Amino acid sequence: MSQVTDYSEKVMDHFTNPRNMGEIENASGVGTVGNAKCGDIMRMYLDIDENHIVQEAKFKTFGCGAAVATSSMATELVKGKSVNEALEVTNKAVMEALDGLPPVKVHCSLLAEQAIHAALWDYAEKNGITIDGLKPPVNDIDETEEFYQMQGE
Ligand code: FES
Repeated sequence: MSQVTDYSEKVMDHFTNPRNMGEIENASGVGTVGNAKCGDIMRMYLDIDENHIVQEAKFKTFGCGAAVATSSMATELVKGKSVNEALEVTNKAVMEALDGLPPVKVHCSLLAEQAIHAALWDYAEKNGITIDGLKPPVNDIDETEEFYQMQGE
């Protein structure tokens, strides 16, 4: 349990009281990624308006507390941003907003960044647009049975 003391108050707050957990029906973009290091999964939903502004962001995860906290913070940070600005919500930016993460948990924060990118990619593809600087998702996972089973759906 000594690990608990390694987490900042903000991490503990977002872990125990996560913002924007859930899903968005008919989301503008959905991205699902897996963490190569631990095998955990994250799905991000974005609702984006006609001016390419992120109006709503929600996430679901089969990941650890650090993944929950970073995704919670990441969804808060992307809301109200343009799709280009949302790209700048990197795992580094999210970790800074959370006052840091223990080094062994840094890989968990990558899930949020990659899932946002995958959701933006999905949005861009659906709308036939290009978002400057956005690369195809490295490990986008399509409708994984595994994900739904783990979510108990
Ligand atoms: Fe898998 Fe943190 S241990 S996301």
